[in-house]
Amino acid sequence: MPIVSMRQLLDEAAKGAYGVGAFNVNNMEQIQAIMLAANETKSPVIMQASRGARAFAQDRYLYHLMLAANELNPGIPMAFHQDHGNSFETCKSAIELGFTSVMMDGSLREDGKTPSTFEENVEVTRRVVEFAHPRGITVEGEIGVLGGVEDGHGAGGTGLEHVTDPDQAVEFAERTGVDALAIAIGTSHGAYKFTRKPDGSVLKMNILIEIHKRLPHTHLVMHGSSSVPKDLQAIVNKYGGKLKETWGVPIEEIQLGIRNGVRKINVDTDNRLAITGAIRKVLWESPEKFDPRDYMKPAREAMAKVVAERMREFGQAGHAGDYAPIPIAEMAKGYQSGALDTRPSLAGAR
Ligand code: G3H
Ligand code: 13P
Ligand code: ZN
Repeated sequence: MPIVSMRQLLDEAAKGAYGVGAFNVNNMEQIQAIMLAANETKSPVIMQASRGARAFAQDRYLYHLMLAANELNPGIPMAFHQDHGNSFETCKSAIELGFTSVMMDGSLREDGKTPSTFEENVEVTRRVVEFAHPRGITVEGEIGVLGGVEDGHGAGGTGLEHVTDPDQAVEFAERTGVDALAIAIGTSHGAYKFTRKPDGSVLKMNILIEIHKRLPHTHLVMHGSSSVPKDLQAIVNKYGGKLKETWGVPIEEIQLGIRNGVRKINVDTDNRLAITGAIRKVLWESPEKFDPRDYMKPAREAMAKVVAERMREFGQAGHAGDYAPIPIAEMAKGYQSGALDTRPSLAGAR
C-alpha cells in the first residue's frame, strides 16, 4: 500500500468515530515498535518526526527507515507527518522529503517558544496550505499555545495561559483551510504536565467540545497527550532514574475528546519512558552486559506494548483494512475541486 495522506486517515477515523495516535520516531527501533503494535492491533499508523528527530537521525535515514516500515507492512495504511514545523521552509523540506502531512506550528515564532500574533499565525499557515494542498499533502495548524518548554515546543507555564479561543479557532480555520487543528486546552509537552491528577476543572474539555460543534469538518488534534503512567515512572525510578512525581493526561479525557472530534492524538513521552525504563532495567540488573541488542530489544518491546495499548484505547485497532489508499495525486485533485475544503463557510454548503 502506498504511503497515504494523513487527511485520508483522519477522514476515515471521523467516519468510524475513533482517534489515531501519532507517535514520534527518531530511530529504527521506535519505527519497528510502532509497526509491531500496528500489526498486533491491525491499526492504521501516523508516524511523526520533529525537527529534532530529523536532525538527530538525518532526513534520508529517517525517511528510508519509514519507507522500510511501509514496504514490510503492505496491509497497514501509514502517513508520515512533520511534527511542529516551525517555518514554511521546514514544512516545504518535509514535503520534498516525501512526508504526506505537515504541521505548521505557527502558534509560536520560529524559536519554538515565543507566542506569535494571530495574524502571523494565519499568514504562515496559509502559505503552507497553499504549497501543500496542490501537492495533495495534509496540513495541521495550531491555535492557542501549549505550555511547558521541556522539549523545545511550548510557551512555558502550565498550559492554561494561552487556551484556544473558539472564535479565533473558527476564524483561523476559515482563513487558512487547514485539514487538522491542534488546540490548547491545558496540556503541555513532556513528563511534567500536572502536579495532581487532572480532573474536568483542569483540562478545558468544554472548549474542545465547543470548537468541534463550530468546526465539525476540521479534525481536532490533541498534543501533549501522554498519560505518563505511574508504572512506567516507577520502572525508571526503580532502576536508578530520578523522575519527580507527576501526572499526565488521563485516557478517559482523551476518549472524551475522541467522542467530540479529536482524531489525532500525539504521544511521545510515554514511549520515551517505556524505552528508558527497559534500558535502565537491563543495565541495572546485568551491569556486565554491553551488547546494545541486549537492551534495545526490550526497549523496543516496551514501546510496542505502550503503542498497542494506546491504539486500542484510541479505537484505531482493527481499522487497518477498512479502506483502499487514495493516491496523493487524487488528494491534490480533491483540494483543487473543493471537495476536500474544510473551511466552515464552504464545507457546510457541500
Ligand atoms: O512535541 C514534541 C515531541 O515530543 C518531539 O520532541 O522536539 O524533542 O523531538 P522533540
Ligand atoms: P507528549 O510529550 O505528551 O508525549 O506530547 C507529544 C507531542 O505533542 C508531540 O507533538
Ligand atoms: Zn506536540
